[in-house]
Amino acid sequence: MEHLYLHFYLGLGEIMDIGLCGVLYVLEIGFLELGLIYFCGECNKMSVINTIINDDVLVGLKQIPDGVVSLVVSSPPYNTGGRTLRYDNYDDNISYLDYLIWLKSVFIECKRVLRTGGRFCINIDAIRNREDGDDKKCYIRDIRTDLCNIMKEIGMMFFGEHIWFKNGQWSGKKTSWGSYKSCSFPTVQRSFEYILIYSKEQFRLEKNNESLDSDITAKEFQIYIDSTWSIQPETQNRCGHPAVFPLELPMRCIKLYSYPNDVILDCFAGTGTTLLAAKKLKRRYIGIDNSKRYCDYAKERLLFDNDIFG
Ligand SMILES: C[S@@+](CC[C@H](N)C(=O)[O-])C[C@H]1O[C@@H](n2cnc3c(N)ncnc32)[C@H](O)[C@@H]1O
Repeated sequence: MEHLYLHFYLGLGEIMDIGLCGVLYVLEIGFLELGLIYFCGECNKMSVINTIINDDVLVGLKQIPDGVVSLVVSSPPYNTGGRTLRYDNYDDNISYLDYLIWLKSVFIECKRVLRTGGRFCINIDAIRNREDGDDKKCYIRDIRTDLCNIMKEIGMMFFGEHIWFKNGQWSGKKTSWGSYKSCSFPTVQRSFEYILIYSKEQFRLEKNNESLDSDITAKEFQIYIDSTWSIQPETQNRCGHPAVFPLELPMRCIKLYSYPNDVILDCFAGTGTTLLAAKKLKRRYIGIDNSKRYCDYAKERLLFDNDIFG
């Protein structure tokens, strides 16, 4: 597939068709890269690679051609009924059954855009979720099991899972004991989340003609291959977003499960954490979020790229 590359540079004020070699030259002489737009030689449409699509997830996914993504890293809204997590323009409050049906339609589209061997890392937690029907009460749900069943139904292959251990920090209020000092109804405090890993059609991810050699070091490999990842939760307020994951989480997924220059998708991109990790690790990215405020924040975060990792 032939591509035409257009790069935007701060300071030049114009679009230049300089091709990939030109990027290195322009960066060397000190211009700041603002963005990169690809035109697909086959369909003659502007490509969404290295962009953030501000739209509904299902509309955004439709813009991505089949098989261009090597890795999806994403954390869907948890449908907490808007009680614990308040998003910018989404009330996170549909019935549990509708929630699962909706996620299934998103995952089917994610499968379509993945290439053979491409991986899908889903960050999720068992959390209070709305009952079906008119009952607006929230109950704790084993979402992990339901998502695993959906992935099986759509034909994705279970590759493995990591536990994101939050170094003893609990999700939610520290005083939500349920029945304090009593066995009548104690509330289990959650200090970890899941990262479920799936693969499309085969477990092995072969390099395609755009992938570069793996960049994971021996030390990183030994740490990342472990099923338990101890990572401090994000502490910084990012645009008031209630559920930002720490940069190290997508960094680990990306290094362990993709090659440099591969395309990484986050279909619920929020503040752009996955996209920034992809950029830092010299992968390409596509982000989707329906909040303009989060998308604008993510674009700025990518442009200035001053998050520290380590
Ligand atoms: C759990 S958050 C992801 C946070 C992200 N990982 C980060 O680090 O900032 C889920 C995101 O999904 C977005 N979202 C919810 N419903 C959506 C929809 N129908 N289409 C697109 N985005 C949606 C919300 O705006 C929110 O930013």
